[in-house]
Amino acid sequence: MSTASPSPAYVHGYSPDESRRLGAQADTLAALLHSGTAYPPGSRVLEAGCGVGAQTVHLARSSPGARLVSVDVSAASLDRARAHVAAQVPDARVEWHRADLHALPFPDATFDHVFVCFVLEHLPDPEGALTALRRVLRPGGTLTVIEGDHGSAFFHPDSRHARVAIDAQVRLQAAAGGDALIGRRLQPLLSAAGYGDVVVRPRTVYADRTRPALAEGFTRDTFVAMIEAVRDDALAAGLVTSADWERGIADLRRTAGPDGTFHYAFFKATATRPVSAGAVP
Ligand SMILES: C[S@@+](CC[C@H](N)C(=O)[O-])C[C@H]1O[C@@H](n2cnc3c(N)ncnc32)[C@H](O)[C@@H]1O
Repeated sequence: MSTASPSPAYVHGYSPDESRRLGAQADTLAALLHSGTAYPPGSRVLEAGCGVGAQTVHLARSSPGARLVSVDVSAASLDRARAHVAAQVPDARVEWHRADLHALPFPDATFDHVFVCFVLEHLPDPEGALTALRRVLRPGGTLTVIEGDHGSAFFHPDSRHARVAIDAQVRLQAAAGGDALIGRRLQPLLSAAGYGDVVVRPRTVYADRTRPALAEGFTRDTFVAMIEAVRDDALAAGLVTSADWERGIADLRRTAGPDGTFHYAFFKATATRPVSAGAVP
């Protein structure tokens, strides 16, 4: 285990509300995001940035025989992840490590597969992080990355105030060194980090009154909740007035209501560590 410590700049924070939001997000989107991801029995799989285990339960269910190693920089999140997975998938065999994914305590080529979800968007050097992950992946092994892109959010009724609120979150994340628009960059990032066979596919969420589970689980409990959570920081940074913020959030909530619609695209990339590649820099 490393002596890694959580980044104080992590824009979403580590509150119980954020844990609930990550759970709602993972459970609502499990079919959309995890379809096509199943690892063979006995394969060694690294989940980098596992958080509170919201995706770990789906990895464990989809790949029951895989040897899962889940890593996060936050000790508190790892404690929650351990309890969450034990409760949800009692048979799951997961090894937990507190570590920084830039300096993992594993020898080169330890893993057959690496899975990273909603982590690169928070890192100041995502290409460097991908390069570091390539070191622990065996030649020919696969990397799967899932990220969002807030520029893909559009909705009805449209609202300037709602767009200002979303933009405040994007700016705060950028100020913390991250990129909430990273989905569109995955292909060039993976190529620059030395991966081959890079394939990126958008996975679209569209919610309206005919899909109430998505309107509630994604639009309201995942996306709007994420924007609402940065209220104090957005006001403190002077990105928006209090009145405009409240109007923006009310307008966003309306997109999850009976007359609302909401669109968002996640980007899911797969790539391999080339067999003939030289040493990782
Ligand atoms: C938005 S959460 C996503 C968690 C999980 N993958 C999911 O989808 O629910 C991002 C996680 O990345 C972790 N993280 C951020 N920087 C990291 C680093 N350098 N090394 C390991 N984990 C990191 C954070 O502690 C946090 O738990």
